[in-house]
Amino acid sequence: MDQYRVFGNPIKQSRSPFIHQKFAEQTQERLNYQSEYVEIGEFSQAVKQLINIGGKGANVTSPFKEEAMALCDKLTERAKLAGAVNTLSFINGEILGDTTDGDGLVNDLLANNVALKNKKILLLGAGGAAKGVILPLLEQSPTQLVVANRTVSKAEAIIQQYPAKPIFCCSFEKVTNYEFDVIINATSAGLNGQALPISEQVIQSNVTCYDMTYGIELTPFLEVAKLRNAAKLIDGLGMLVGQAAVSFAIWRNIQPDTQPVLTSLREEMS
Ligand code: ATR
Repeated sequence: MDQYRVFGNPIKQSRSPFIHQKFAEQTQERLNYQSEYVEIGEFSQAVKQLINIGGKGANVTSPFKEEAMALCDKLTERAKLAGAVNTLSFINGEILGDTTDGDGLVNDLLANNVALKNKKILLLGAGGAAKGVILPLLEQSPTQLVVANRTVSKAEAIIQQYPAKPIFCCSFEKVTNYEFDVIINATSAGLNGQALPISEQVIQSNVTCYDMTYGIELTPFLEVAKLRNAAKLIDGLGMLVGQAAVSFAIWRNIQPDTQPVLTSLREEMS
């Protein structure tokens, strides 16, 4: 049976084996997908071991996404721009690297009937999570994409990678200078139980608020959005399933249906 892994540290929390097993059942693909805890400093060894047993591919999660990129023989354009890789494919002795997070996000937004074309998008954060979604968001032809970050210089560095695109940056204080249709939280503030130092006025009642993180409870960012009567509140669980679906399609050349898997995952988590 074809072997796949998700490598991370920590890894116990990973939902990827559950998701890929559901995709495999749904598409009747015969494969084995397991999570593997990797010690810091042993990532390349773990990849080699998987290749040695005939492994076909792997997902990579924190903190190995940059290291995974360095290991690849070939990279997609979106992986180069993201500076990180979450999907490895082992083909003809080569390691191919891609990042599927951005497509997972865009597909989930579209599945939730959130239009992006000709819309104004605010992306909060300029770390790895934010970088990974910028190109796929720009490919949807928004009117503008504003990247706001606590450390503005990091947002500035990102937007310079996209000359001639309608992408801008600003501080959290300045976000109220603009109006938005969609606000996406790509910071890790909520994960650490910290509030985002952003002016809440930017969340108007017509705005869709998307948090790339998720949990059993509403995330802190979505709590604020709810208090502000935002039009739609969406957490990142659909993005998680969406990015897995894009990886699955890269490996198996078949597109799984994400909605039933998202429903089972929500049931599992509740
Ligand atoms: P990830 O891979 O999850 O993106 P990261 O690369 O460490 O992790 O980036 C974390 C992001 O969350 C950054 O944009 C960070 O802002 P800074 O660049 O200013 O550090 C943001 N972040 C984390 N905690 C935050 C907080 N309490 N308030 C505002 N932004 C925060």
